[in-house]
Amino acid sequence: MERDYDVVLFGATGFTGKLVAEYLLNTYGSSGDLRWAMAGRNLAKLEAVREELQGSEGDIPLLTADSGDLSELAELAGQARVICTTVGPYALYGSGLVQACAEQGTHYCDLTGEVHWMREMISQHQQTAAASGARIVHTCGFDSIPFDLGVLFLQEAMGEAHSVPARHIKCRVAGFSGAFSGGTVASMINMMEEIDKDPGLQKLVDDPYILNPPGAPRGDDINDQTGAIYDDDFKRWTLPFIMAAINTRVVRRSNALMNNAYGEDFRYDEATLAPKGQGALKSKLAAAAMMAGTGSIAFKPTRALVKRFLPSPGEGPGPKQREKGYFDIRLYGIHPHDRSKDMRARVTGDRDPGYGSTSKMLGEAAVCLAKDELTCGGGFWTPASAMGQTLIERLKTKAGLTFSVEKRGSE
Ligand SMILES: NC(=O)c1ccc[n+]([C@@H]2O[C@H](COP(=O)([O-])OP(=O)(O)OC[C@H]3O[C@@H](n4cnc5c(N)ncnc54)[C@H](OP(=O)(O)O)[C@@H]3O)[C@@H](O)[C@H]2O)c1
Repeated sequence: MERDYDVVLFGATGFTGKLVAEYLLNTYGSSGDLRWAMAGRNLAKLEAVREELQGSEGDIPLLTADSGDLSELAELAGQARVICTTVGPYALYGSGLVQACAEQGTHYCDLTGEVHWMREMISQHQQTAAASGARIVHTCGFDSIPFDLGVLFLQEAMGEAHSVPARHIKCRVAGFSGAFSGGTVASMINMMEEIDKDPGLQKLVDDPYILNPPGAPRGDDINDQTGAIYDDDFKRWTLPFIMAAINTRVVRRSNALMNNAYGEDFRYDEATLAPKGQGALKSKLAAAAMMAGTGSIAFKPTRALVKRFLPSPGEGPGPKQREKGYFDIRLYGIHPHDRSKDMRARVTGDRDPGYGSTSKMLGEAAVCLAKDELTCGGGFWTPASAMGQTLIERLKTKAGLTFSVEKRGSE
């Protein structure tokens, strides 16, 4: 595929886009092996971002396109091997770009967590992408890279140690520190507003297998956790995890796309670990408070009020908060026949999950799609099924993530 650029970053003027640009510049330079450009709808804003990053002599190429103009998007997609986009909410501003990439044979990655929109994009453009060779990969940020690749990592370790995949993987978020940006808030609110308009959508997004290809086997997974549950394998209470509604669907789609490499009866769930020593009552109250917080955005009358206290588009956690941030995820794999062969793994990140780490994960996913030898053809993939171990290596060596097998009995 001969193109002017390896990677075009669309949305470089936004909060997360600017961080991705900074990451690409610091890691790959502006005139090295990676040929990359920044794109957005407003040239003056793009010039200001370039000046902020490189000073007045900046040389990162700038391209313009509006997400509502299909011919501009087609021209943009035609110049790149990969389009990496942070223009969201994706359900509002992202559909034309997916179409353009599918038609032009341009690989694509994004940060969406809007599962209903992903499903729509898959059903509209899978055939076109398969024919053009475009590899389209949604969810290349905190949702869902550490979870999707964490499961792949643990399943490969199970395969090496015991020659079988774990039948059930439990993923538990042991800790993280970070905050939301205005763009993420706008995406969550837009999804709630779409559900208000079309209540049938709620049933769809609640379906644990919403992202599985038609006809793929469905396993036994049911709803995501909404209350406090004691987990005997972790010896702690667990609470709901807000992003389970995205990550679990992605992990199940990965399994389906990899010909059920984890098994047709594979089970997967996510939760947050309560602090050590926290008892039943406090855990139940904490779970209720978490659900009330989510409910206040879902419930129309309280949504407007809550919105006033949340960041606006373009705003997000500052540099100190991003640098002090981290995430720590534990996975527990249950052997199908012999519990003494259960295995544990851990995935960590050295910046806040949503922005400091997400910008590095998205940047590396884009470079991986542009530069690495991948075996999948065109179509809609997940991070694990498209980039797997190749991306794990990149994230370990460049983006501050760790993937490790842990001793059983370790916390
Ligand atoms: N999965 C994750 O872990 C994760 C983490 C972070 C963010 N996200 C998602 O990433 C998205 C961006 O978040 P953010 O906080 O960076 O948002 P943001 O600061 O509001 O940035 C949005 C970007 O979209 C651009 N844009 C808006 N309308 C456009 C149009 N019509 N044509 C072209 N560009 C347009 C904006 O351009 P202007 O500057 O010209 O307005 C800006 O560059 C959200 O959907 C968020 O949910 C996901």
